[in-house]
Amino acid sequence: MKKLLNILLIAVMIVSLAACGGKKEEEKKVIYVGTNAEFPPFEYLEDGKITGFDMELIREIAKETEMEIKIEDMSFDGLLPALQSKKVDIVIAGMTANEERKKAVNFTSPYYTASQVIVVKEGDTSINSFDDLKGKKVGVMLGFTGDLVVSEIEGVNIERYNASYAGIMALQSDKVDAVVLDSEPAKNYVAKNDGLAIAQANAEKEEYAIAVRKDDTELLEKLESGLKAVKDKGIYEELLKKYF
Ligand code: ARG
Repeated sequence: MKKLLNILLIAVMIVSLAACGGKKEEEKKVIYVGTNAEFPPFEYLEDGKITGFDMELIREIAKETEMEIKIEDMSFDGLLPALQSKKVDIVIAGMTANEERKKAVNFTSPYYTASQVIVVKEGDTSINSFDDLKGKKVGVMLGFTGDLVVSEIEGVNIERYNASYAGIMALQSDKVDAVVLDSEPAKNYVAKNDGLAIAQANAEKEEYAIAVRKDDTELLEKLESGLKAVKDKGIYEELLKKYF
């Protein structure tokens, strides 16, 4: 009899513990946000903390929509695979919403318009268009849209780097003749490093948006309404002023 009572007691304990745990999880469902914090001013590390325009934007959106988020830093080309395999639920990383990616994931409406630019050594007048990259050694970042743009030009000697600062360093040490990068990070690097300039060349516009899994329509709507609220309240405008 005593044994039976003990077993019963343990069973009751297990059930109530499980219920408790389940409830806690429901109340506090953490939404994981993937980024690649090597893309100033959108996301970068400052004193070991991830900051930047995108990071403040997603934190404000989370506040508006009462989401608890946790930011995960990883390589840029690992972001969409991490989203697909549910390691993260959201990707915000200055990511261009291009046709190829739209096939795999859903994007919110765009939150920033950028373009690809060519960073050269100051005084280099030989590059005035993307066509001028023919025959040159050009640094791009693995999986960035700049990689796609340069890969389409025939006769370019492409060097691929894992992070934009690595490409910029290669340019500074003459390992490459130019680096193709998104406009804002490019401006940022040029401003902070001597001897670099942005070539006068026209490039197509690109739009950054926040990505979620295809089936996560609820989260997409939440992000959309959060983005709208952040814009309506003037927070978005403040962030633009702060970072650009
Ligand atoms: N806009 C480019 C793209 O979508 C580059 C983005 C790189 N972002 C980053 N956080 N490293 O491919």
